[in-house]
Amino acid sequence: MAGLITMDDLSNDEILRILDDAERLLPVAQGKVYLPLLQGRILGNLFFEPSTRTRMSFETAMKRLGGDVVNLGDVKTSSVVKGETLYDTIQMVDGYTDIIAMRHPRQGAAQYAQDAATVPILNGGDGAGHHPTQTMLDLFTIRQAHGKLDGLKVVLAGDLRYGRTVHSLSHALTRFGCELIFASPRLLKMPAEIVEDLNSHGSSVVETEDLLSSIHDADVIYMTRIQKERFADEDEYTKVAGAYKLHAKNLEGAKESMIIMHPLPRVDEIHPSVDTTRHARYFEQAFNGVVARMALLCNLLDIEVPASIGPEGGDA
Ligand code: NCD
Repeated sequence: MAGLITMDDLSNDEILRILDDAERLLPVAQGKVYLPLLQGRILGNLFFEPSTRTRMSFETAMKRLGGDVVNLGDVKTSSVVKGETLYDTIQMVDGYTDIIAMRHPRQGAAQYAQDAATVPILNGGDGAGHHPTQTMLDLFTIRQAHGKLDGLKVVLAGDLRYGRTVHSLSHALTRFGCELIFASPRLLKMPAEIVEDLNSHGSSVVETEDLLSSIHDADVIYMTRIQKERFADEDEYTKVAGAYKLHAKNLEGAKESMIIMHPLPRVDEIHPSVDTTRHARYFEQAFNGVVARMALLCNLLDIEVPASIGPEGGDA
């Protein structure tokens, strides 16, 4: 069965349908309704890199829907340290589970895993490659705030070179006709092949080093962490560390409806003074990971989400 490796695996119609499913699943994610759509199903969580939100929200999503989860756990206590190949690990977990969520430091690892598996693989981040399940919760958050995806002006800021969240998100936003502004230090510019791909989809991308002058007419500002772990050279990291620090006072001229997002964890790129402004949306965004992943799990397991979900559980 096909999984979700990059945003190319979903059409725009499929994306919108999954976002609609996610919206209906909100009371289930909040624990107000118990709807065991995934009873008897097992998710395998294989995280070969650190994760808090992605791993835990997959687990919460599965459990809120009555399903179960098995975890690889700490890589250091798994057979990986004995030299087991990713291919063998996947072949085995394939037999234990109905669907697998995987994060791996190597770009392309999710596709490689899908080639070794019969169950769907959900790519929870492959090195500096892609992070499509994050994109689904990002799109959910943007649509929740603005009521639409098309035609918005979105600033993606920070580490656009190594940040997999912005690689997947920029692709999806372009497909929905958003105007994109890429704000990054020169060293961390969006890879040229991604910019070319976006241009070939009819996008008009603006690249700048100046984040502050992009704030006043933005609908969304998407901040990212500088991905320290991807730098081959510590000195290179030191040159760009702390490049952007958004503070509440920088937001004075912003549109009232503008939202600030961040996939988290943040380091120092969003000052805590921003948290209490009307613009901050990053903690709601993290919560939305549960509904978006619930909807994805149902979709990839071919389980239909009821057209209306009543307060007593089941269909209204
Ligand atoms: C992101 C990731 O792992 O790519 N985190 C996440 O999934 N929410 C962003 C990051 O680590 O900076």
